[in-house]
Amino acid sequence: MCRHEGPRWGCGRCAPSSMLLLIQLLSAAPFGLLGEETRQVSLEVIPDCRDPSPNLLHIRAVGSNSTLHYVWSSMGPPAVLLVATNTPHSTLTVNWSRLLSPEPDGGLTVLPKNSIQFSSALVFTRLFEFDSANTSEASAKPPGKPYPPYSLAEFSWNNITDSLDLATLSATFRGRPIQDPAGAFANGSLAFRVQAFTRSSRPAQAPRLLHSADTCQLEVALFGAYPRGNRSLFGLEVATLGQAPDCPSVQEQRSIDDEYAPAVFKLDQLLWGSLPSGFMQWRPVAFAQRQRGRESSLPCQASPLRPTLAYLLPQSPIVRAFFGPQTDFCAFNLTFGAPTGPGYWDEYYLSWSMLLGVGTPPVDALSPLILGIMAVALGAPGLMLLAGGIFLLLWHKQCSQYQPIN
Ligand SMILES: *[C@@H]1O[C@H](CO)[C@@H](O)[C@H](O)[C@H]1NC(C)=O
Ligand SMILES: *[C@@H]1O[C@H](CO)[C@@H](O)[C@H](O)[C@H]1NC(C)=O
Ligand SMILES: *[C@@H]1O[C@H](CO)[C@@H](O)[C@H](O)[C@H]1NC(C)=O
Ligand SMILES: *[C@@H]1O[C@H](CO)[C@@H](O)[C@H](O)[C@H]1NC(C)=O
Ligand SMILES: *[C@@H]1O[C@H](CO)[C@@H](O)[C@H](O)[C@H]1NC(C)=O
Ligand SMILES: *[C@@H]1O[C@H](CO)[C@@H](O)[C@H](O)[C@H]1NC(C)=O
Ligand SMILES: *[C@@H]1O[C@H](CO)[C@@H](O)[C@H](O)[C@H]1NC(C)=O
Repeated sequence: MCRHEGPRWGCGRCAPSSMLLLIQLLSAAPFGLLGEETRQVSLEVIPDCRDPSPNLLHIRAVGSNSTLHYVWSSMGPPAVLLVATNTPHSTLTVNWSRLLSPEPDGGLTVLPKNSIQFSSALVFTRLFEFDSANTSEASAKPPGKPYPPYSLAEFSWNNITDSLDLATLSATFRGRPIQDPAGAFANGSLAFRVQAFTRSSRPAQAPRLLHSADTCQLEVALFGAYPRGNRSLFGLEVATLGQAPDCPSVQEQRSIDDEYAPAVFKLDQLLWGSLPSGFMQWRPVAFAQRQRGRESSLPCQASPLRPTLAYLLPQSPIVRAFFGPQTDFCAFNLTFGAPTGPGYWDEYYLSWSMLLGVGTPPVDALSPLILGIMAVALGAPGLMLLAGGIFLLLWHKQCSQYQPIN
């Protein structure tokens, strides 16, 4: 369960008053840098011998004794498989005739099977739109009255090969509804930009999530689509595999350091099991402008994960192909924005980012700026205390020297 307040502006950052906290934070800082590992990353669009083949992108990240496989596809709703193996030699095998059949079980395999340490999947099933204009009325509760959702299984997607950028290790799935009688997407699209990394770093653009070679970033952007109301909020439904009877847990971490994502003091993460397993990590913030700053940031709310019947969700062939006929799905909704403040309506633009990875989720170390501020904030009183202490000591010494005389 996670509830989020919106980003809070102009709330003064207080320097922690306790020295103990500083010491804890200082000793915690280097851990963010440990586990830094590089990987050899390759992106490959797996072609089918037949034409036209659907989009299937394989990201293979090889480390010294492990390989991560991320398989992204827009067959059915956009989805990703995440498979971690304990050998640098594991491979992905695709049986296209099976994958494209009505029962794609076994169409995707990672070999050797016994090297698999962790596997799961995410499916982006539906795009929601809500009319938030009347949420102040007692009858309507946030995010507002839903319009009919867009099923992402009924989108057509670009040819992923054309967007493959090996320099940045990224590729973009860009889609629009196949049926669009109102022309809402005539000038717009929904894009899923996927990026892999060879080492730990932080992108220049907000929300500047710290990534590692064990992670993959997804940036979802909706732009140019005509909203159905003046105050439309959008939402995204995300499904994953559950381990009956439980759903993966969602945790909210607090961070005192907001340098990298102004005024967002939280980091949300979905954990598939006890650590280290797989995780999805995001800051509860979205942006309503390409220029991502404080002025264009929107709160992002996540609903609790709940078990959902498979037949209620658009099915992903790649998930079925790898995991077989699964019945245990869990789903949750992300909702972007609030009825007031900036919104999609400003520029018809909305973006949100997340990381997907295995192992221990990256933890923000304190930034140099914050350490500087803390050093100054704690240092000045500290010096005064020290000076005061020496003064008192000397004064006391003098007093005691003179005391016998008095
Ligand atoms: C996608 O583009 C590549 C190269 O531009 C081409 O070889 C391939 O046939 C295209 N695939 C489809 C399904 O059109
Ligand atoms: C993998 O290699 C790292 C060092 O490169 C080592 O610390 C770790 O224990 C190894 N893991 C396994 C499962 O062998
Ligand atoms: C692929 O799947 C088909 C149908 O299930 C099967 O007949 C064929 O042998 C498989 N191909 C390979 C290479 O395993
Ligand atoms: C919202 O409120 C306005 C004015 O109160 C009303 O005209 C409109 O029909 C309402 N819209 C919805 C969707 O309830
Ligand atoms: C799409 O954009 C173009 C140029 O920006 C404009 O001329 C056209 O009317 C737009 N189409 C729709 C359906 O709004
Ligand atoms: C949107 O706003 C315009 C002007 O403020 C108004 O005329 C129109 O009725 C509104 N549309 C809806 C769907 O509320
Ligand atoms: C997401 O929101 C929509 C619209 O309010 C709702 O129909 C759907 O059940 C929600 N899904 C989950 C998993 O909560």
